[in-house]
Amino acid sequence: MCSRDPASNQLIDFKNNDAEAQKDCTTSGGTPIGVKDAIQTVGPRGPALLQDFVFLDEMSSFDTERIPERVAYAKGAGAFGYFECTHDISKFCAASVFDKIKKRTAIAMRFSVACGENGSADTVREQRGFAIKFYTEDGVWDLVGCNMPVYYVRDPSLFPSLIHAQKRNPQTHLRDPDMFWDFMTLRPETLHALLMYFSDRGTPDGYRHMHGYGAHTYRLVNPSGETFYCKFHFKTDQGIKNMDARRCSELMSYDPDYSIRDLYNAIKKGNYPSWSMFIQIMLNEEAKKCKFNPFDVTKVWPQKDYPLLPVGRLVLDRNPTNYFTEMEQLAFSPAHFIPGIEPSPDKMLQGRLFAYGDSQRYRLGINYMQIPVNCPYRVQVKNFQRDGSMCVTDNQDGAPNYFPNSFCGPKESSRALALQTCCPVAGDVYRYMSGDTEDNFSQVTDFWTYTLDNCGRKRLVRNISEHLSNASQFLQERAIKLFTMVHSDFGRLMTEALNTARISKF
Ligand code: HEM
Repeated sequence: MCSRDPASNQLIDFKNNDAEAQKDCTTSGGTPIGVKDAIQTVGPRGPALLQDFVFLDEMSSFDTERIPERVAYAKGAGAFGYFECTHDISKFCAASVFDKIKKRTAIAMRFSVACGENGSADTVREQRGFAIKFYTEDGVWDLVGCNMPVYYVRDPSLFPSLIHAQKRNPQTHLRDPDMFWDFMTLRPETLHALLMYFSDRGTPDGYRHMHGYGAHTYRLVNPSGETFYCKFHFKTDQGIKNMDARRCSELMSYDPDYSIRDLYNAIKKGNYPSWSMFIQIMLNEEAKKCKFNPFDVTKVWPQKDYPLLPVGRLVLDRNPTNYFTEMEQLAFSPAHFIPGIEPSPDKMLQGRLFAYGDSQRYRLGINYMQIPVNCPYRVQVKNFQRDGSMCVTDNQDGAPNYFPNSFCGPKESSRALALQTCCPVAGDVYRYMSGDTEDNFSQVTDFWTYTLDNCGRKRLVRNISEHLSNASQFLQERAIKLFTMVHSDFGRLMTEALNTARISKF
C-alpha cells in the first residue's frame, strides 16, 4: 500500500476543491451550531441537560447509523460508468440497450466477496460478485452475476444452507471447515463451482482483473417476438491476474481493503477499467435436444458448440461520491428486467426473483427504489403504488391510484405488450429432487482435464488440501470419494496431499 495514493489523498482533495468545507456546521434541522465540542451542563462538571438538542441530535443519528449488511456478498466496492453497444444483436434481442451501435447506457457496478462480512479481508479465497445495473430508457435492468460461469447448487431451496455452511458456526462464531465440507460433499452438484473456487480464480488480484458471468440462462426476445436462450459473459480488458496464497495472506495483514483501494485508485487516476460483453445463444430447438439441462446453473455451455458473440463494452469512469449513499444503498435484483430480456425456467434464477427485493425491503426500507442510486431515473415511474414509510417523491401527486380508471391514469405499454412472450409449459406439480438427477461429474472432469494445466492442477490440490485437512476425517474421506469420481488422478493426488498435511501437523 502506497501511503499517498489517490485514495489516501481524498481529504486533501476535498479541502483543495470543495468550498463547502468552509461553511457553518448545523443541526439536522439546519440551525447553525456555535459550539460543537462541548455538551451543555449545569456547571463545568455536569450533569447534562435534556434540552441540549445539538448533542442529542448528533448522538441519536450516530446510534442508528448502521443498517443491516447484505445477507450475502456484504463486503464490496463499486463505481459508475457506461455500457457501449458495439455489435448488432437485434436478431436476438429487442432490448433498448442493444438497439444502436455506439449507443451508451449509464451503469452502476458493484463487486463483492461472497461470504465475508462487511469488515472482512478482500483477498480471502472466495467467489466474487459481479453485479451490473443498467439505467435504460425502459427502466433498470440488473444483471447480478459472479466471477464464475457456474454456481454451487441448482435448487434455490438450498441457497440459505449453502450460505450458512460457508459463514460462521452458530456457537463458536468461527468459520467452520466441518460445516463447509459437510454441506459440499453431501451435495455433489457443488463440485464444479467448488473446483473453480479452489483454483486460481478463487483469489483474483482485485476486482479489475477478473471476468464476470451472468451464470444463469436467460431468455431474449427479438423485435419479431422470437425467443432465444442466452448466457452473458464479461471478459476483463485488463487481463486476468490472480494472487498466490502468500500474497493474499500478506495483504490480509497490511491492506485488507486491497480490492476497494485498487478500484478507487485506478478510476481516480483515469485508468478506467473495462470489460467486453459477449453472449452465447441457444435456439429453442437446441435446448430441447441438449445433452445436459441448459437451465442448470451448475453447467457451462461449451463454447465450441455455443460460441461467444461480441455485444459491447462496460467502462467504469466515476468513483462513488459517497460510499454509503451510492454503494451500501445500491440494490440489485435479478427480477429487474426490461422488455426483450426475460428469465429462463432455471430454478435458481426463479428462486432469486423474489429474494432480493424482500431482503432490500428489510435492509433499506419499503421505498428503497426511491433512493437516487436505485431509481430508474431515465423514466418517470407511473403506477398505482403509493405511500409507505419514507416516501420522498411527489407520490405521483393527484394521478389515479387504481386501474382501470377513466381519468387519464397511466396506460399499458404497447411496446411491452408486443414483446411479451407466450411459452407453453406443462408438467406435474411436485418437489423434484435435483441432487443426483443431473450429471454432476462430466463437466467437472473436463475442467480438471482440459481447463487446468499441470501447474493449475497442482495448485488446486494444494489449495483444497490446506482447507480440507482442517475438516473431520470422515468428511475428508467423503470428499476423496467424490474427487476420485471426477478423475482417478485427482483422488490420488488429494489423498497424497492430505497424508502429507496430516504428517506435517504432528
Ligand atoms: C436461490 C439463489 C439465491 C438467492 C436466494 C440469493 C439471495 C441474495 C440476497 C438476498 C442478496 C442480498 C441482496 C441485497 O441485500 O441487496 C444477494 C446478493 C447477491 N447475490 Fe445472490 N442469491 C442467490 C443466488 C445467487 C447467484 C447464483 C449469484 C451469482 C451468479 C448471486 C450473486 C449475488 C451477488 C453478486 C450479490 C450482491 C449484489 C450487490 O452487489 O449488491 N446470488 N443474493
